[in-house]
Amino acid sequence: MCGIVAYIRKGSGASSRVIEGLKKLEYRGYDSWGIATVAEESSAPVAVVKKVGKIGSVDSSRVSRALGRDRGVAIGHTRWATHGGITQKNAHPHVDCSGRLAVVHNGIIENYQGFRDRLIKRGHRLLSETDTEIIPHLVEEGMSAGRSFRDAVLEVSRQLEGRSAFVLMDAGSGQIAAVRLGAPLIVGVGKEPGEMYVSSDIAGFLDYTNRVMYIDDGQAAFLHFDGTRPKFFEIAFGESVYKRIVTVDWKRGEVGKSGYDHFLMKEIMEQKHTIADAINQDDKRILEIAGSIRHASVVFLVGSGTAGRVCAAGEYLFSTIAKKHVNAEVASEFRNYKHYLTNKALMIAISQSGETTDVLEVIDIAKPRGAKVLSLLNVFGSTMMRMSDDFLMINAGAEHAVASTKATTAQLSLVTLLAYATAGRLDEGKRLLLNAAAQVNDMLNPRYEEYIKKLARKLKNKHDIMIIGRGVNYPMAEEAAIKLTETSYIHAHGFAGGELKHGPLALVEKGTPCIALIANDDTKAEMLSNAIEVKARGGYVIGVSPENNKIFDYWIRVPDAGNASPIANIIPIQMLGYHLALLRGINPDYPRNLAKSVTVK
Ligand code: F6R
Repeated sequence: MCGIVAYIRKGSGASSRVIEGLKKLEYRGYDSWGIATVAEESSAPVAVVKKVGKIGSVDSSRVSRALGRDRGVAIGHTRWATHGGITQKNAHPHVDCSGRLAVVHNGIIENYQGFRDRLIKRGHRLLSETDTEIIPHLVEEGMSAGRSFRDAVLEVSRQLEGRSAFVLMDAGSGQIAAVRLGAPLIVGVGKEPGEMYVSSDIAGFLDYTNRVMYIDDGQAAFLHFDGTRPKFFEIAFGESVYKRIVTVDWKRGEVGKSGYDHFLMKEIMEQKHTIADAINQDDKRILEIAGSIRHASVVFLVGSGTAGRVCAAGEYLFSTIAKKHVNAEVASEFRNYKHYLTNKALMIAISQSGETTDVLEVIDIAKPRGAKVLSLLNVFGSTMMRMSDDFLMINAGAEHAVASTKATTAQLSLVTLLAYATAGRLDEGKRLLLNAAAQVNDMLNPRYEEYIKKLARKLKNKHDIMIIGRGVNYPMAEEAAIKLTETSYIHAHGFAGGELKHGPLALVEKGTPCIALIANDDTKAEMLSNAIEVKARGGYVIGVSPENNKIFDYWIRVPDAGNASPIANIIPIQMLGYHLALLRGINPDYPRNLAKSVTVK
């Protein structure tokens, strides 16, 4: 989703670093971008370049030339449209009437409409349809009424509702304000004196510095440019706070495509090692966490989208392996269960990015009730990591493609390991998962991919695909549907095998493809019966299973991975999604309308 990068240095030439920073945030998904600098010599103090499309292939020096020589400051943004269409006008930065203030903003201002109407009545020229644009105009008004930049920013910030974060640059006083109101914003301390970064994502500056200061919610950092040493953190809605500089000892992992055409295929292939990496944990901590799971009065597993499906699989895994009931819920629907949260409750939040607003909101509900929060994360330093009582990293390395693959199986691996640890069978869990990792390594070979490609050719013109599963593979059928939908734009729907006859069977006609995820467990016989029901009505059955069966029209062979069957079963579907995307002319890395880090509700 939206991304913010700002940079201050002594002298001039700040814009190229911001362009490079924005390119690092490309993976988050966006539709337009823009940069503003304070021009050294110009009639308009703030210079802006903004465009619809991607910044990836943009030549930094051309953009820097178009912006002109700057005063050592630049702010930049990648926008994922919420308020207002995908247009150049709606792209950030937005400026005030005087052209002295420019803002970039992530998240949503829920009460913007009233401000906007009043600003227009008072004669302000608002050029976009965004909620963001009210910020520079409101600050402009405060400053016209005699307030300092700092006071005007703080006054406006106090009035904004909703989760957001913004960076506002003032050409007049030579300052930028970085304000965090529920959406992430981190300050990076550069290596040169006076060199500072601000970004919504540590990736925006991690190539240049790993020394950071975290801005907390309700805090604002004011950084000075124009050659003076930045004053750190005249913070916030109250008194000043001095921030500790924290060194982040974390590598995002390989960030290039490593010779693959797309991140998606690279990340699918990385599952050869990421399953083992995920369970490479400190046994002592895993056993402590297992103890907390055992003793909690109630355990919730919460996540969104694919991570939500991992939670649902976790509910099955804890039940079958540890005989422990845990409750899985998608984060956006959690509110209903808040009454069960006490200081004896445990919430396990699963999120690749650690920034998903729906999950952050659940943590906000859990903490004041005294519930303990454990997060399973892939991004170090993320908001969720800092909000949680404890966290475990899934160690999948940077995941760029919007469609989650290696993070999904890493999450599944760690949840499975926790289930085994809770059962007091940690070593058995490790053996099972290491075996699954070896099986996946064997499976991901060129011949296998060629075979999946053949199936993709058969399916490429279909309008609908049904996917069925039972037990722990029921949530995997739903996850398979998410994967195929977002990569191929073919409507795919995942069902519990037993539910077919209660409605979905009405959709089956001659040639309707139905993927059946059939594990070698106690659901096998019933799954085969369900697949036969589809076949009897003319459906085209694609069996994903360790063994072939005469009812399959197409067999995708997967290893018999026991309780790790969700991992083995989902990988060929990820690959199928990739090839369907290519055959249908879709960029597999960046599906339309979706974003990697979902920072709105
Ligand atoms: C789909 C996908 C999404 C994410 C969801 C949560 O492939 O990736 O459904 O799983 O947006 O994101 P995180 O895990 O970052 O909280």
